[in-house]
Formats: sequence, C-alpha cells, structure tokens
Amino acid sequence: MTQTWECAEQHIVLVGMMGAGKSSVGRVLAQRLGRELLDSDEMIERRSGRTVREIWNEKGEPAFRALETEVLDEALASDEPSVIAAAGGVVLSPANRTLLADSDAHVVWLLADVDLLLDRVRNGMHRPLLDDDPETTLRAMFESREHLYKQVADAIVSVDHRSINEVAGAVLRCCA
Ligand code: S3P
Repeated sequence: MTQTWECAEQHIVLVGMMGAGKSSVGRVLAQRLGRELLDSDEMIERRSGRTVREIWNEKGEPAFRALETEVLDEALASDEPSVIAAAGGVVLSPANRTLLADSDAHVVWLLADVDLLLDRVRNGMHRPLLDDDPETTLRAMFESREHLYKQVADAIVSVDHRSINEVAGAVLRCCA
C-alpha cells in the first residue's frame, strides 16, 4: 500500500447482516493488509469462555449485547489499525453506533440480497436468532436494520455475485 492510501491509519470495520461474509472477507483483508482480524463474536467467546449460543441460552440476549459493546469498544480502541468484523447486531445499540461514529474507523457495510444471506446462514451454530423460520426472520431483520447499517457506513459494498476476494478488493478500493 502506498502512503496515500486513505485507510492506512484507520481500522476497517465490516458491518452487515448475518451471512454477508464479514468474517471471511475480514480474514482476506487482514491477510492482504498484514493486519490483525478482530471478530466480535470470537472476542466474546474468548473473553467469556463460552460460545455465542451458550451465552444466549444461559444469560440471554441482553447479556450477549452488553459483551458485544465491550468488545467493540476494545477493538476500536486498539492502537494498531486492524480489520474488525462486527457481528450483525452491533448496529442495534445506540451506544455502539456512537462508538462507531466517534472513532475514525472506516466502516463498510457489506450489502447482500436476503436470498443470498438465506443460502449462507443455514445451520449457523452461533445464530440462535435464526433457529425458527430463518427466512421470515432474516427478511424482517433486514427491513428493521437496513437504515442502521446505512447510518453507520462510510461506504457500501455489494457482495452479490462476487467472490470473497472480489469483495475484499472492493472494500480496499473504497479506501483508495
Ligand atoms: C447476530 C449476528 C451473529 C451473532 C448473533 C447475533 C445478529 O453474528 O452475533 O447470532 O443479531 O445479527 P454474525 O453477523 O457474525 O453472523
């Protein structure tokens, strides 16, 4: 990367719905940029010694969301510019949206058609919200969250008909 690359000093934060490819694209980006990938679900699991599903079942969604805020705050505060894969629900909390707005991170919304999301999210162990009727849930979720992703995003990258590498390339071009 050249010195003029605009995201050289910034975290790149990937937001978007479950199944949009935040973690896979994040892995490619982190490798290409020689950065650490901070994945909010993984950070929560490491910190609590429990899976997302266990936290959800044992302590409930509010406890999970509180952990989500903690790890987002921690990831954004890290000195080294990194790639942050922020789980789909991160945008729900006004506190999280403020954290994103107040940081100078470059936030990219990975936008996917709900049909594509549906294909990808079947059998997601860390996605208890999709246990019953994933199609109806995902469509309603997209309706209710779309404006929130738009609100936090500095850039929008469509993932439809693109490979993970192509999406990663498109994210990098947003920063050029
Ligand atoms: C959620 C997204 C999931 C996980 C949890 C809740 C959401 O992460 O944090 O199941 O509310 O959108 P991914 O976006 O990585 O699937």
